[in-house]
Amino acid sequence: MIKIAPSILAADPLNLERDARRMMDAGCDWLHVDVMDAHFVPNMAFTMDTVRRLKEIASMPLDVHLMMDNPENYLDLFLDAGANCLTVHAEIEGDLQAMLREIRRRGALAGLALKPGTGIWTAEKLIPETDMILTMTVEPGFGGQPLNRSVIRKIAALRERGYKGEIEADGGIREDNLQELIDAGLSVAVMGTGLYRTDDAPGMMARLHALG
Ligand code: DX5
Ligand code: ZN
Repeated sequence: MIKIAPSILAADPLNLERDARRMMDAGCDWLHVDVMDAHFVPNMAFTMDTVRRLKEIASMPLDVHLMMDNPENYLDLFLDAGANCLTVHAEIEGDLQAMLREIRRRGALAGLALKPGTGIWTAEKLIPETDMILTMTVEPGFGGQPLNRSVIRKIAALRERGYKGEIEADGGIREDNLQELIDAGLSVAVMGTGLYRTDDAPGMMARLHALG
């Protein structure tokens, strides 16, 4: 069954706990936490303190998406804070192999994120070091953008090459476009505005889970 990971970027900053609980009570599988450094992406978002506090109330895995340069300096802090899945971007400079290995060594799932324009061949050698590939379906940095449909082909290509890990997509996912992502091989769907704008999160969650 598809795992649904609500992105707390779409929550009300003054009511983060209330809005995270709303998604947990609705039956989400993971909680997705975006970290942005105003350098790798032109926006700022959560820190390890957010992860630490969410860990105290979350009964499901915390999926932390590092949209930042030099994540190697912060991996331990996010892992100590309770990240269960930690994802770094393939486009950054640095020793990505060492970072992915460190995340695994600490017992978390190691994720590698690809922007829409980053081909899987650029990450070829790193793929065996990953537990998850995050295929960005929008340019990272902001919620509420439309899904880039060309990424569906990338998901299918990863499965065609025999990738057995989790494949996650992030950005622009809605109830009316999730099915084709699942059909291509998606296993984790991050949803921000698509989930937070509904008045009936449990109902939507049940319908999303029923897609496959
Ligand atoms: C975008 C973030 C996403 C964002 C998705 O860079 O990584 O997690 O919250 O939001 P929606 O679902 O609204 O596109
Ligand atoms: Zn994200």
